[in-house]
Formats: sequence, structure tokens, C-alpha cells
Amino acid sequence: MSKKWRTAITQHIDGEPYVRGYRLLDLVGRYSFSQVAYLTLKGELPTPAEARVLDAMLVSVVDHGLAPPSAVADRVVISGGNPLHVGVAAGILTFGEAHGGAIESAARVFQETAARDGDVRELAAERVAEALSRKERLPGFGHRLYKEADPRTARIFGIAKEEGFFGRHSALAEVMAEELKKQSGRPLVLNVDGGIAAIISDMGFDWRLGKGFFIMGRVVGLVAQAFEEITRERPFRRLSEDEMEYDGVPPRELEPDS
Ligand SMILES: CC(C)(COP(=O)(O)OP(=O)(O)OC[C@H]1O[C@@H](n2cnc3c(N)ncnc32)[C@H](O)[C@@H]1OP(=O)(O)O)[C@@H](O)C(=O)NCCC(=O)NCCS
Repeated sequence: MSKKWRTAITQHIDGEPYVRGYRLLDLVGRYSFSQVAYLTLKGELPTPAEARVLDAMLVSVVDHGLAPPSAVADRVVISGGNPLHVGVAAGILTFGEAHGGAIESAARVFQETAARDGDVRELAAERVAEALSRKERLPGFGHRLYKEADPRTARIFGIAKEEGFFGRHSALAEVMAEELKKQSGRPLVLNVDGGIAAIISDMGFDWRLGKGFFIMGRVVGLVAQAFEEITRERPFRRLSEDEMEYDGVPPRELEPDS
């Protein structure tokens, strides 16, 4: 009879863990963290090329300063008097369609579009037109700061090209950015989420794993942000009066008691 819980990731033999069939202690000291992350996610050890591309993607999202929602949430929660893991968890909870989470939906768009027959230029033009007519925000495109190009995307695409992982999905993503600019008139660059989404698609990862790549990389930054808040700042951060505005009803009198 099959048991209620099952896993193909790790098992214990004589009290020792085996990850995807390899004895964990044999991996320790021989493979890097990202090589073992690849093994854990995909089930096989990566080639040197796959390992370098995965490493590049994880490094590209490691931290992006104080400003993004995840760093703000992380620090605010710590400043309320919570321990490190609670701040980090709060940061992770901000990952949604506008922040980090776009990798998943962008990878889905690239995988579904690239699976259709046809030339990437035609498929890109068609998918962009469809999104604009539906007023859909195409995930993986646009950035608050970068209007010419997201330099992180250019860097990871460069490495993916060197290692032979710039395939149909990445080509499609690049052409979609050109089409988006042409058809919308807006400088909606392929952002780092979109770049990662395209590369993981060319590496054969399921789009539903997309957000995991952002989490794995950025959690390092979130731990550092939480630790810095704990060790360098006073508790109870609050907004100052000049940072906020009340735009509700002016003061008014209650009806006299009847
Ligand atoms: C990242 C993002 C929030 C930056 O936004 P922004 O530069 O401040 O732009 P705004 O949210 O003010 O949007 C301005 C206009 O561009 C449009 N737009 C922005 N991103 C778009 C996208 N990816 N696809 C289609 N249209 C988009 C908006 O609909 C808006 O149009 P409107 O004025 O007709 O309403 C935005 O581009 C976005 O939502 N991108 C998709 C999600 C994503 O990839 N997130 C990961 C970021 S690293």
C-alpha cells in the first residue's frame, strides 16, 4: 500500500541523508551551493555550463538596496521587534507579480508562446499585440528605474550566450521587448525577472519553479538587510509627518446626543 506522504528528493539510509540519490556528505566540499541547488531542483547534477548560468542568475538578484518592497518589509518587521527569520519571511511575502514573482508568469508566457509553430518575430508581435489589446501587463517587461536596458539582463544573457543557453525562449523575450517598445511607444525593457525567465526556459525548467530562483538569490540580501537593521538601527521605525498626507474628510462634529 502506498504511503500518505512521498518524495523523490531526499531519503535517509542508515541515518544518512541522500539527496537525489547522492550521499549528502559526498556532495559537501565537492560541489558548490548552486550546483547542489540545481541537483535538488532538477534531479541531476549540472554540467559546468549549466552551473555557471545558474550561478550568474542567482548572483544577479542577490540584493537591490533598501528601496524594493521586500527590503522595506523586512526592515519594518524587524523594527517592530521581531527576530531575523520573521523579517526575512516578511520580505519573501512581498514577492508578487510586480516584484520577483514575474519570473514565473514570464516563463509561462515564453514557454507557451515558444511552443507554437512559427518564427519568433511573428510570435512575439502577435503575443505583444494580444497583451496590449487586453491591457495586460506583460510579466518580465518594464522597470521603475531602467528605461534603456536592464543591465542585469544584458549581463546574464551574455553569460547564457557564452555557455550555449541562449535559445528560442531568450530570443523570443528579446524580440518581445522590441515589439513592446514599437507597439506601445513605451520603453518597456526586458527586466531581470524576464531575463531569468527566458534563460530558465532555455535550460528546461518548468515555469512553475520561476519564483524559486528569485527567492534563492534574494534571500541572501534579505538576511543581510535584517541583520543590519537589528545591529545598526533603533527599533520602531515610523514615517515622519512630511512623508505622509491625510486626504480624508476634515475634522467635524458628532451629532449631539439625543
Ligand atoms: C515593473 C513595473 C511595476 C514598473 O512600472 P513603471 O515603470 O513605474 O510603470 P507604471 O506601473 O507606472 O506603468 C506605466 C504604464 O506602462 C504600462 N506598463 C508597464 N509595464 C507594462 C508591461 N510589462 N506590459 C504592458 N504595459 C506595461 C502600464 O499599464 C501603464 O500604462 P497606463 O499609463 O496606460 O496605465 C511595471 O513595468 C510592471 O508591472 N511590469 C510587469 C511586472 C514585472 O515584470 N515585474 C518585475 C520587475 S523587476
